[in-house]
Amino acid sequence: MDNTLTAANLCLQRGQRWVIDDVSLTLNGGELVALIGPNGAGKSTLLRLLSGYLSADAGACQLEGRALGQWPAETLSRRRAVMLQQTQLRFDWSVVAIVAMGRAPWGSQRETGIVRDVLALTGCDELAQRRYATLSGGEQQRVQLARCLAQLWRDSAPEGWLFLDEPTSALDLYHQQQLLRLLKKLTVSGKLHVCVVLHDLNLAALWADRILLLHEGRLVAQGLPQQVIKTPVIAQWYGAEVQVSTHPGSGAPHVFLCA
Ligand SMILES: Nc1ncnc2c1ncn2[C@@H]1O[C@H](COP(=O)(O)OP(=O)(O)O)[C@@H](O)[C@H]1O
Ligand SMILES: [Mg+2]
Repeated sequence: MDNTLTAANLCLQRGQRWVIDDVSLTLNGGELVALIGPNGAGKSTLLRLLSGYLSADAGACQLEGRALGQWPAETLSRRRAVMLQQTQLRFDWSVVAIVAMGRAPWGSQRETGIVRDVLALTGCDELAQRRYATLSGGEQQRVQLARCLAQLWRDSAPEGWLFLDEPTSALDLYHQQQLLRLLKKLTVSGKLHVCVVLHDLNLAALWADRILLLHEGRLVAQGLPQQVIKTPVIAQWYGAEVQVSTHPGSGAPHVFLCA
């Protein structure tokens, strides 16, 4: 089976601007790919194009050998899940109900076992009976991750393509670590393929197999963390004064801001 997602020459215009400008890339099965770039670079937009939530003005995406637009909606929903930057809900639902909603593409049967497993995996068991609207931002993010994993659950683990837009933005240190360790563990199994927008370059450097750097709608750097997280690259595309050193435990690059 073709286990890749390829994008060829994607372009998207908003107003007078190309917010995505001739982007070509490949995501490989079993990879944890981090998408980085400054504010407004087009990361969220690119994630929506790659996951089929938006159609490009030009260019094409192929998921597992089939044009993304040709996938029947329900089949696609069983194969890829998306956690957006913000998820506002109009209804006052409980956490279990929201996670169970992730099972919608799989038909009407109740699958409480899956919901329970996913809540445990994401450390959300204690939130199960809470109303979603009463949760903190970080707790809501963890529940959204649980919902996405439920959506992709097959037999005993999630399978397919998971897109996450800044899933750690409201998480404390412990939960940042838990989330990235979990994503890493699930991708190493080879059945889950992850593309995650991260603002924290050090999280990206520590956990991503590959990093894509977007700037003004263009893919300006990509490669292993040590190929992308380098002082001149970060200084050039972020405009920030930084010094990149090495993580003492893993040897991964580590970005320090200059005071
Ligand atoms: N509907 C829209 N109309 C006009 N500009 C838009 C629209 N959607 C996105 N943009 C612009 O496209 C650029 C990329 O947005 P986005 O993908 O959200 O960036 P990022 O996630 O990297 O911060 C931003 O400059 C944003 O203002
Ligand atoms: Mg964004």
